[in-house]
Amino acid sequence: MSKEFVPIRVSTLRGDQQIDFNAYVKINEKFILYIKNGDSFEGDRLQRLKAKKLKKMFIEPESESRYRSYMQKNIEMAYDRGSGKDITTRAEIIQGNQQANAEAVMEDPGNEAAYRETKDAASKFVQFLEQEDQSLASILNIANADQSIAHHGVTVSSLAVSLAKKIKMTDSKQLQLLSLGALLHDFEHFHSGITLNLPVEQMKDADLKIYKQHPLLGAQKVQDKKHFDASVLRIISEHEEYIDGKGYPMGLVESKMDPLSVIVAPCNAIDRMMTFEGVPRKEVVKKLMINAVGRYPLNYIQALGEIVNSLKDK
Ligand SMILES: [Fe+2]
Ligand SMILES: [Fe+2]
Repeated sequence: MSKEFVPIRVSTLRGDQQIDFNAYVKINEKFILYIKNGDSFEGDRLQRLKAKKLKKMFIEPESESRYRSYMQKNIEMAYDRGSGKDITTRAEIIQGNQQANAEAVMEDPGNEAAYRETKDAASKFVQFLEQEDQSLASILNIANADQSIAHHGVTVSSLAVSLAKKIKMTDSKQLQLLSLGALLHDFEHFHSGITLNLPVEQMKDADLKIYKQHPLLGAQKVQDKKHFDASVLRIISEHEEYIDGKGYPMGLVESKMDPLSVIVAPCNAIDRMMTFEGVPRKEVVKKLMINAVGRYPLNYIQALGEIVNSLKDK
């Protein structure tokens, strides 16, 4: 087969709309038909697909325009409250789209168009979280089975926007930057490949050394990109700091941190436990209360407790 296949992101294959193209996986330089024209990706099927840990699939070049219109139709429908689709399906599509945006920027931070698109999408995502009661629960119910850093970014972004709402932050520009910075905060992990699925205290020395530097290394890699917003850079470099100055890599106290980083930090700590350490959702805030007193503002931890406890058990 000599034709050029076109890569697509698996995270864009979400929701109950049928695909009208074939999707292939590449195995030993061969393209194998994996998902056929007529299939769709809601619920269990999505989870099974995610469990495969595939980031990219391939389509035939003649299907490209059909894939683009599938994606566009999907996302428009997902953001439309009047579409008649249930919130679970809409949240799956929106989560997948945000994940795809994060992947696009992290893979190629020099791509200004991808950054702009992701920044625009960050505003839409804020509105979705603000305007609909079940949006956060539906987004958080999508398990990050493959421990994707981009999916982790979407979860942290969702928690950060919900926390901002609780503490009465209303400026839409700030909320957009918060949402975007939280989405991209672990830029470095996307590239470093260190083992993340155990508590930081249990990491091996070599990994721990890299881990403690990841915020700075990530920020360094994107600081020359003029299109990156200053607040996003601050969130990337400060999201592991604690307000008492005992965090890392710089040991900044709260007054030296960007207020947006102060919001992202506990949200990141929560999803680190849920996604990478296997702590059940109903225990994360209790753990944060016990282990992390002094690291984050107490009212933020309390607000996150209310947010997490208001979600149905999963
Ligand atoms: Fe991090
Ligand atoms: Fe993180």
